[in-house]
Amino acid sequence: MDRCEAVLRELNLYPIWIRRNRPDSIAGNALRAEADSESTMPVVAKERLPDAALPVLANATSGKSSVGTEISSSAPGSLLDKLNWPELKQQVHDCNACKLRAGCTQTVFGVGDESADWLFIGEGPGADEDVMGEPFVGQAGKLLDNMLLAIKLKRGNNVYIANIVKCRPPGNRTPTAEEIAACLPYLRRQIELIRPKLIVALGKIASNALLGRETSLASLRGKLHDYHGIPMMVTYHPAYLLRSPTEKAKVWHDLCLAKNTMKEASNMT
Ligand code: URA
Repeated sequence: MDRCEAVLRELNLYPIWIRRNRPDSIAGNALRAEADSESTMPVVAKERLPDAALPVLANATSGKSSVGTEISSSAPGSLLDKLNWPELKQQVHDCNACKLRAGCTQTVFGVGDESADWLFIGEGPGADEDVMGEPFVGQAGKLLDNMLLAIKLKRGNNVYIANIVKCRPPGNRTPTAEEIAACLPYLRRQIELIRPKLIVALGKIASNALLGRETSLASLRGKLHDYHGIPMMVTYHPAYLLRSPTEKAKVWHDLCLAKNTMKEASNMT
């Protein structure tokens, strides 16, 4: 068995198969724009996120949290920064900060261990997630579960999974910059509450949203980035891998780097 096959078996992804005439809707919105063909080997390079990249809620209406705190979604993110888990969940549930809420079934907050070391972040709910109210429960979610398994992780067990936007964009389109800006403060507060040791951004949209700049996934892979003091890595979105299974070997490299980074981070504490 060659190395590539061994890696893919470990990822539970072998043999490689490609279904012909696959409907686009299955793979969701992350299928586009990730086909960076160059392969990057892990190199550790730290970057600081400029404060200007910090989002504030935009285009928002006003909401009331369950504890009676009046919170305007057009207010600076600092108001959200005081919320605890139940308050934050309620705030997301009640959110109407952008047009997405009107077109989806429910908000999809996030799932998992609320003090996890590992935080995986996708783009936004698809059709299955919209129905179930949980991130990554469709085909892409099954692949994500296998990716986790490959590095001996399990959903909910020291792992938290969230998305950049909490509402399904219609037709699984990519969320707009305004929709991302409106939703990102919620994720930012989730991250503050979880305090993960490592963030793994899944796909270009999540990576760019967190880093606050437009960069190809290929140029971001294989390096350690910095999200407000938390180490962050990027890899391909599982939905993209469903379409381009030959890219799965690169994910193995990324997951190995993630595992090693976590080992080092855990040794330091
Ligand atoms: N794709 C995502 O980015 N997130 C999900 O929750 C499901 C599919």
